[in-house]
Amino acid sequence: MRVILALLAAIGAQACMRERTLGAHHDGHIKRQADVTFPPVLDANEQILLDSFDNTSISTWSYYYTHGDHIAGRNKTMAQWTADRWTEYGFASRLDEYHVYLNYPLSHSLLLTYPNGTTFTPSLQEAVLPEDETTGYPNRIPPFNGYSFSGNASAEYVYVGRAQKVDFARLEALGVELEGKIALAKYGGPFRGLKVKNAQEHGMTGIVIFSDPGDDGNMTEAKGVIAYPNGPARNPTTVQRGSVQFLSIYPGDPTTPGYTSKEDSPRADKSNSVPHIPSLPISWLDAQTILQALDGFGTPGVQVNRTGWVGAIPGVNYSTGVGSGATLSLSNIMEDHITPIWNVVGIINGTNQDEVVLVGNHRDAWIIGGAADPNSGSAVLVEMAKAFGTLSKTGWVPTRTIVLCSWDAEEYGLVGSTEWVEEFIPWLKGAAVSYLNVDVAVSGPIPDIAATPDLHTIATSLMKKVVWPYHGSTNNTMYDIWTQVNTGEVGVLGSGSDYTAFLHRGIASIDLGAGSGPTDPVYPYHSNYDSYHWMATFGDPGFYTHKAIGQYLTLLLYHMVSDASLPLEPASYTPELQSYLAELNDTIITYNGTLDLTDLTAAISIFETSASEFNELRDLAISTNDTALLLVTNHKARDFSRGFTSQGGLPGREFFQNLIFAPGLDTGYAPVTLPGITESITFEGNWTLAQEFVGKTADAILVAAAMLKT
Ligand SMILES: *[C@@H]1O[C@H](CO)[C@@H](O)[C@H](O)[C@H]1NC(C)=O
Ligand SMILES: *[C@@H]1O[C@H](CO)[C@@H](O)[C@H](O)[C@H]1NC(C)=O
Ligand SMILES: *[C@@H]1O[C@H](CO)[C@@H](O)[C@H](O)[C@H]1NC(C)=O
Ligand SMILES: *[C@@H]1O[C@H](CO)[C@@H](O)[C@H](O)[C@H]1NC(C)=O
Ligand SMILES: *[C@@H]1O[C@H](CO)[C@@H](O)[C@H](O)[C@H]1NC(C)=O
Ligand SMILES: *[C@@H]1O[C@H](CO)[C@@H](O)[C@H](O)[C@H]1NC(C)=O
Ligand SMILES: *[C@@H]1O[C@H](CO)[C@@H](O)[C@H](O)[C@H]1NC(C)=O
Ligand SMILES: *[C@@H]1O[C@H](CO)[C@@H](O)[C@H](O)[C@H]1NC(C)=O
Ligand SMILES: *[C@@H]1O[C@H](CO)[C@@H](O)[C@H](O)[C@H]1NC(C)=O
Ligand SMILES: *[C@@H]1O[C@H](CO)[C@@H](O)[C@H](O)[C@H]1NC(C)=O
Ligand SMILES: *[C@@H]1O[C@H](CO)[C@@H](O)[C@H](O)[C@H]1NC(C)=O
Ligand SMILES: *[C@@H]1O[C@H](CO)[C@@H](O)[C@H](O)[C@H]1NC(C)=O
Ligand SMILES: [Zn+2]
Repeated sequence: MRVILALLAAIGAQACMRERTLGAHHDGHIKRQADVTFPPVLDANEQILLDSFDNTSISTWSYYYTHGDHIAGRNKTMAQWTADRWTEYGFASRLDEYHVYLNYPLSHSLLLTYPNGTTFTPSLQEAVLPEDETTGYPNRIPPFNGYSFSGNASAEYVYVGRAQKVDFARLEALGVELEGKIALAKYGGPFRGLKVKNAQEHGMTGIVIFSDPGDDGNMTEAKGVIAYPNGPARNPTTVQRGSVQFLSIYPGDPTTPGYTSKEDSPRADKSNSVPHIPSLPISWLDAQTILQALDGFGTPGVQVNRTGWVGAIPGVNYSTGVGSGATLSLSNIMEDHITPIWNVVGIINGTNQDEVVLVGNHRDAWIIGGAADPNSGSAVLVEMAKAFGTLSKTGWVPTRTIVLCSWDAEEYGLVGSTEWVEEFIPWLKGAAVSYLNVDVAVSGPIPDIAATPDLHTIATSLMKKVVWPYHGSTNNTMYDIWTQVNTGEVGVLGSGSDYTAFLHRGIASIDLGAGSGPTDPVYPYHSNYDSYHWMATFGDPGFYTHKAIGQYLTLLLYHMVSDASLPLEPASYTPELQSYLAELNDTIITYNGTLDLTDLTAAISIFETSASEFNELRDLAISTNDTALLLVTNHKARDFSRGFTSQGGLPGREFFQNLIFAPGLDTGYAPVTLPGITESITFEGNWTLAQEFVGKTADAILVAAAMLKT
């Protein structure tokens, strides 16, 4: 549907809920661009900040975070430890507690029964590896899905591919009966909770989701690559845990939609945002036998002919399996709690307290480790706090207030950050300049960022100041690697990490990290093997990428809080809006409809004029060093993007207020632009609703333009 977005989505692994995907990387000679100086030239404060970064101390923080149970709501000690480190480095730190709905695994089982009565019992476990101590911790967390339904299902099962709406449409076209059956689905594509939602909406009674080596490209045992722990390929017992919340409908505590979760908060019905059928995640090794029982029945995978349908499990043809007579008995019993979670908040007041820059990372992980997701980010944040502590000792004080956030319960559905934003929204709407998110800071060596357009310029230019290690070379800047190994394009924010609540309240946001390319070690996302041992051996030996991404985040924060003229560029929205409009136009043609886009086209044009006027005013403020006028332009840059939000939100999902970008309804991670209009066409087929959202979107753009107007 959208060429630019498809290209960008091809890379990227930094969002905690996003999966490893392969892009068009190359390992050839890296050419330096003409406008990059090497080594980078830094001013005195930048030098102090970057010199403070030490790979060995980052590794110490990483080791701490990856050797204890820190699933959501279960490790207050780790929250306090984080607050203590930040306090030591000069941040006034506190724990913000919320009482939220979470569930933990009690027991589960899965049994395959062949028509002749013979059975197969999948292991449902990841192998304990002597080399990797945390895989054998007695309190290790079994594979399960957060917010999964408690219950049993026993029925014939059908392979449903990646379980997107289009996959189900294809099965229906093939005449496959789904009602009352169990779904067997492959990871990849949409957020897993939406797979469960789609299966549930087709009357299926349970779902089993498996990992597939097909997502690992050439880095597989079948292609001769040795598996973890002895090599970089996926260990065959790897299981991807994760939440099955309906992320594209409502993130946050499912029992308190739209308001914060305090101990005495009223609790709402959660059935619109969590499933009512049980689910379990399994490894490809367990899935192999279960898929084999379907081979020879129904339509073979190649003939189903759907994107991502056929994977690379040896000896399997990914048939739908209709009429196999084989059944699955699935049991998944969870323990429900309303339980405390702890966000850590650390503050250094700026001289100007009505401008606030927030930096966040979540702390909770599905496993004892979590060395990439999320604690590569947590380790980097501690090291960054240390760097600002060092700078503060020179007498430096930020112009704007810095707020560091260590979120809890992100993994269940962005719970800690969403509840916090819901509590502090009046203050944030007034004062927040931007939110910088780092979830998986490092799962590989390739830098990747997604951001609102107003952050593109600063985010791109600061990459030229960071030395970036890449496959043994230390002779490149981050910008060199980003432009030549990644695509050199800033991604559009969808969802899957803690920037979501900020973005949908109109706050400029960026999500950053480093992921893997096709020749890099396979990142064991949400598995026991996302451990300190994996990180130190394969993910980032030497912790050099941790150091580089931390230095980048530090420069970004430093400039956001200290540049006299706030480095946000409203005018960068203009070309982006124009390209989203062109894509919408294509969508309209593809879907054979008509829509009057006059108001939207006019609004974008007015925005363009206002943004140019704003630039002239800001140039004047800068050239005359007029501090009063700079305050005016800084506040306009801070505020204008609030205009892009609408109180009522998108159709059927009130939480999502941003009318320019949102997670796709049936993707969850991947973004859709001008979502109110686009998805009224692509999902609802409701052209009246689409036209209504043309009006709402145009109005929102006019509000943003009016805030910039001088
Ligand atoms: C909390 O995390 C720390 C650091 O990883 C660990 O040492 C401790 O055992 C954990 N606490 C519990 C109760 O698991
Ligand atoms: C039952 O069927 C399975 C799958 O076809 C086969 O592997 C197994 O040998 C059969 N068992 C008996 C006892 O026939
Ligand atoms: C796998 O290797 C083959 C042969 O070298 C190459 O053509 C192909 O592009 C590679 N695939 C990926 C996903 O890198
Ligand atoms: C698969 O579908 C595409 C169009 O979606 C079609 O061009 C192609 O021929 C189909 N392939 C098979 C094997 O049916
Ligand atoms: C669900 O399945 C489990 C495992 O087979 C079994 O122990 C339990 O009794 C079942 N519960 C119900 C309500 O059927
Ligand atoms: C920051 O300023 C606020 C007032 O806006 C004050 O309440 C708070 O104590 C200050 N914090 C620190 C660490 O100075
Ligand atoms: C690194 O860069 C310097 C100067 O730009 C050059 O002399 C040197 O050969 C480069 N080293 C490598 C390994 O590319
Ligand atoms: C940090 O870097 C130094 C020098 O390159 C290296 O010797 C050391 O092993 C690294 N530390 C860790 C913990 O990897
Ligand atoms: C939409 O496409 C049509 C035909 O391709 C073109 O005439 C029109 O100018 C486009 N409109 C916009 C707003 O891009
Ligand atoms: C649009 O019309 C064409 C030609 O009539 C048809 O093939 C296509 O399926 C239609 N597309 C949609 C989304 O309805
Ligand atoms: C701008 O004005 C501020 C406050 O009056 C002063 O501190 C600063 O040095 C001036 N900067 C320039 C470049 O003149
Ligand atoms: C389409 O949207 C309009 C406007 O919101 C609504 O009144 C109408 O009921 C919708 N039509 C259908 C078929 O859902
Ligand atoms: Zn994460």
